[in-house]
Amino acid sequence: MARPQRIYVCQSCGAVAPRWAGRCDSCGEWNTITEEQPDTAGVGGGPQKGSGGAKGRKIELVSMAGESAEPPRLKSGIDEFDRVLGGGLVAGSAILIGGDPGIGKSTLLLQAMAAFGKSKAEVVYISGEEAIAQVRMRARRLGLADAPVALGAETNLKDILATLSEGKPPAAVVIDSIQTMWTDTLESAPGTVGQVRACSQELVRFAKRHGTAIILVGHVTKDGQIAGPRVVEHMVDTVVYFEGERGHQFRILRAVKNRFGPGNEIGVFEMGELGLSEVPNPSALFIGERDGESSGSAVFAGIEGTRPVLVEIQALVAQSSLGTPRRAVVGWDSGRLSMVLAVLDARCGLSLGGQDVYLNVAGGLRINEPAADLAVAGALVSSITGNALPSDCVIFGEIALSGSVRPVSQMEARLKEAEKLGFKRAILPASTARQRPSTGLKLTEIEDLGGLIAKLAAEPSKAGGGKR
Ligand code: TYD
Ligand code: MG
Repeated sequence: MARPQRIYVCQSCGAVAPRWAGRCDSCGEWNTITEEQPDTAGVGGGPQKGSGGAKGRKIELVSMAGESAEPPRLKSGIDEFDRVLGGGLVAGSAILIGGDPGIGKSTLLLQAMAAFGKSKAEVVYISGEEAIAQVRMRARRLGLADAPVALGAETNLKDILATLSEGKPPAAVVIDSIQTMWTDTLESAPGTVGQVRACSQELVRFAKRHGTAIILVGHVTKDGQIAGPRVVEHMVDTVVYFEGERGHQFRILRAVKNRFGPGNEIGVFEMGELGLSEVPNPSALFIGERDGESSGSAVFAGIEGTRPVLVEIQALVAQSSLGTPRRAVVGWDSGRLSMVLAVLDARCGLSLGGQDVYLNVAGGLRINEPAADLAVAGALVSSITGNALPSDCVIFGEIALSGSVRPVSQMEARLKEAEKLGFKRAILPASTARQRPSTGLKLTEIEDLGGLIAKLAAEPSKAGGGKR
């Protein structure tokens, strides 16, 4: 019998090589190449060899009692969760939920499964990381001990699939986490690209065939990618990330890909003693911690998914003692910050070459919108001059490389949210009379970045000079 052929797969980028090497030619990472069997590690799926043979053994599912129902879209009743999925869980869909360890993925999914269970859907929670006793203990702490969720603690995929295939297929299954699952068609260890890919493939196939919604939990590596292959992201219908800063109680569930709903939708939760609770009005929370009027702070009126969200942007500009000054950013793109700094320098003569710049989006939110440019510039200029922006003022607008300020989408929704939260003024891009949003706020239109600087210099706030 011929010796089975071997291939070598990079655990970082998934590139395949014929022989082992210390460094991956594709992505340049060191020590990421491991040996795998070619047949199932091969791209594209196809019938899997070696999966015939012995039938999987039945694993024990612990009953929490309950009946079943099968609507095409399952709603958990946790609005923030349902909305991110595009209005509930679609039968037969596959969802990947990624996030740092300890951020609350298991907690969220246990709560969501309990909610599904209570609405009479048959749901299964398979933990590959925790023992039944641990999951039960967590459920008890969350007050969900009597929720009708079937629990299983198992990592052998064949056994799990054999169990799920028996009788009526469940409406939803959580696999926590995909990195702990393994299939005996591959010799490589759980968590390797080959295993993660093969297991995901089988689970997705199961979801499609039986109409069961499968939720895969995926851990995220230090550099923010789902550990193992990105290919899992392509296999599933929906990819959501659960993010947040440790030390902050806010958690944000963000859809980055969704075949069944709008992308980039967010849901906001708060982690407390009794698990995660919904935050139906995140703006109030994100700006709720502001300490009055101080320089270096600006309230950005943003749009996340379909919702307007107000969030505080804080900047600090300080004399640098380093040869290369520091640029530290939390919650925003550092490349975008460099651009705003370059425009301030080249178009407005405001050079920060010798100064450290710190930028922070309060509350642990991550902003991707270019509309935040003007708010960032406002916070920076305010920190430099020591003049605070009025505390009842929101600001938004996109900055072009020429220094001009461009209109952004959904201005009216942004202003409406600001008005709802008691703001009185807004600094926004200049627009034609036809585009001009109708609002009760006092508007200050800015045509270019120079205009913003002039405005901040002309109206030094009485309470200004707070933190510098
Ligand atoms: P967990 O859901 O285990 O995270 P993940 O599955 O993403 O690794 O979350 C664990 C963290 O959440 C842990 O640090 C404790 C915290 N936590 C609470 O603050 N309150 C709670 O009610 C629960 C269950 C967890
Ligand atoms: Mg977990």
